[in-house]
Amino acid sequence: MISIDLSGKTALVTGATSELGRVMVRTLAQAGADVAVHYHGNRAKAEELAAECQALGRQVVVVQADITRKAAIEAMRDQVTATLGAPHIIVNNAVIQYEWTSVLEQSEADYESQFRSSVLQNVLMAQVFVPAMIERGWGRVIGINTECTMQCWPNQSAYISGKAGMDRVLRVLAKEVGVHGITVNQIAPGWMLSENRTAEGTPQWYLDGVPLKHRGKDQEIANAVVFLASDLAGFISGVYLPVCGGNVMPGI
Ligand SMILES: NC(=O)c1ccc[n+]([C@@H]2O[C@H](COP(=O)([O-])OP(=O)(O)OC[C@H]3O[C@@H](n4cnc5c(N)ncnc54)[C@H](OP(=O)(O)O)[C@@H]3O)[C@@H](O)[C@H]2O)c1
Repeated sequence: MISIDLSGKTALVTGATSELGRVMVRTLAQAGADVAVHYHGNRAKAEELAAECQALGRQVVVVQADITRKAAIEAMRDQVTATLGAPHIIVNNAVIQYEWTSVLEQSEADYESQFRSSVLQNVLMAQVFVPAMIERGWGRVIGINTECTMQCWPNQSAYISGKAGMDRVLRVLAKEVGVHGITVNQIAPGWMLSENRTAEGTPQWYLDGVPLKHRGKDQEIANAVVFLASDLAGFISGVYLPVCGGNVMPGI
């Protein structure tokens, strides 16, 4: 029987307190990984998650950091490494939320925040965490992108310009670090259902565009995370994997 076993591995999820992140953390812990639960402002949610993972018998550390600041990420690495050892798996999931509007209306500050949120988060997380993966000769870098990057809908330019930049950074990284046994992949969620985001009010036009005709669940993103983190995905690198019921289909 094939199964996913991440015991002996340590995973760090940025934005573990987020709608999708909390299920990633739980699922990584259920698969056997020790987990670093990162938060920015929501310490209570991080501690709640940590308690759940500890109840599964996992080693857990709760860490706070602004993922747009290298010194903060380095301090997070030192704290995680001192308690759980250097992470084998990092999931760059955190996102800075802001109000979406048109290119003509969106502020420069919003473009800068999205550059920091997506491009710089992925650059800094790599600079801080990949060296220990290189030393170990094994690692998993998983970036959380979005289906929106391929759709280019109105009002999303700041968000998706950051996510498109992140995509290029991670593809280059995949080529640079593959020789060290490190895979670098992205998951692109569709518009997901989660603890606080329900199907109520989903417009029919959105469902019409999804071949599977429904919105996916947070757990389906977490399932893709544990798969890419596992040895089952050991020969997969450089992918942008949509988990969106077929709503976007990257061409070849
Ligand atoms: N939800 C969806 O349907 C969907 C669809 C497509 C793609 N995605 C992608 O999936 C990921 C998670 O999205 P989500 O909707 O689950 O997020 P979310 O619920 O809006 O949560 C945002 C997360 O980012 C953290 N964060 C915000 N600013 C930060 C900063 N400066 N430094 C560090 N952390 C910071 C927050 O931490 P605190 O709460 O601790 O402050 C929180 O954990 C994102 O990359 C997003 O683009 C989501």
